[in-house]
Amino acid sequence: MRVLGIETSCDETGLAIYDLEQGLVADIQHSQVELHAEYGGVVPELASRDHIRKIIPLTRELLNSADMTLQDLDGIAYTAGPGLMGALLVGATFGRTLAWALDLPAIEVHHMEAHLLAPLLADEQPPLPFLALLVSGGHTQLVKVEDFGCYEILGESIDDAAGEAFDKAAKMLGLGYPGGPAIAERAQPGDSSRFRFPRPMTDRPGLDFSFSGLKTHALNTINAHAPLSDKDIDDISRAFEDAVVDTLYIKCRRAVEETGIPHLVMAGGVAANQSLRKKLEDKLDAAVYYAPGRLCTDNGAMIAFAGALRLKSGQTAPLAIDTRPRWPMTELPPH
Ligand code: KG4
Ligand code: ZN
Repeated sequence: MRVLGIETSCDETGLAIYDLEQGLVADIQHSQVELHAEYGGVVPELASRDHIRKIIPLTRELLNSADMTLQDLDGIAYTAGPGLMGALLVGATFGRTLAWALDLPAIEVHHMEAHLLAPLLADEQPPLPFLALLVSGGHTQLVKVEDFGCYEILGESIDDAAGEAFDKAAKMLGLGYPGGPAIAERAQPGDSSRFRFPRPMTDRPGLDFSFSGLKTHALNTINAHAPLSDKDIDDISRAFEDAVVDTLYIKCRRAVEETGIPHLVMAGGVAANQSLRKKLEDKLDAAVYYAPGRLCTDNGAMIAFAGALRLKSGQTAPLAIDTRPRWPMTELPPH
């Protein structure tokens, strides 16, 4: 079964074909980073318009690169949520309509479930049950995965997501968007002993996160040292990254201890962070898994894969196009 996957929930137009027998056949992506860079963050209306411009040419390019036509497809999967309403509508309308026109089954994919399953596209895969640390621009969650589609949220952010905190701190430091990779780069030469930022909510029990106080702490440090030298920016970036990484590590350690599950999947854009990977790999008493390379951040391959698994189990989307900007993962049916 060959499934076309369509991702348009935020600022990447991602398309891919996943074959249940052969694996990932082709994938293609268009990033809107340059479009939003001058605004320091994603402008939802510009995102939707750009998805509209790109989705058909990219689909053609994807099929050409795989030497296939629409007739070679057996199903179509599209992100139905969570994400930006206008952006989601573009991919969902395109995907659902194309499936209807080709008389193919369609399937709605949950963006965070797709991130969570993306590590299964790597060579080394976790056995069930496993824990998942989902860290993206919109979500920070620790999830217990008993089986595919059966998700228990062990903890989540009560305010900003980890990626959002990186993006906001980068904006304050004048580092532009997206903030995570920019801060990670500046943190490398930074002096880790100059500033110490708090590790929010680690001094009390539980697995929830809070990152908004860290942002205020960064702002106060920036104001106290303005105008910032290059070294100040490096050192503040380092203190900020160390604090986020340490906080995520402490909660993951707690989750491993409390559940006794020694397998942890890291997924979502922040899972691309090398310091976080190193910390969890070196210090966590668990095997750590993540998606291959660029499949950590938003992409069509994870949507095609997650959709293919649900189509395989006989699930399909109704004809109505139902996009959900908010969509708790716990509401998903099992596979
Ligand atoms: O999963 P993703 O591509 O999109 C969402 O679903 O949100 O995640 C994007 C987020 C952004 O906040 C970005 O700053 C962050 O992931 N990010 C990183 C890194 N690469 C991307 N954060 C820290 N370090 C990175 N290397
Ligand atoms: Zn994402």
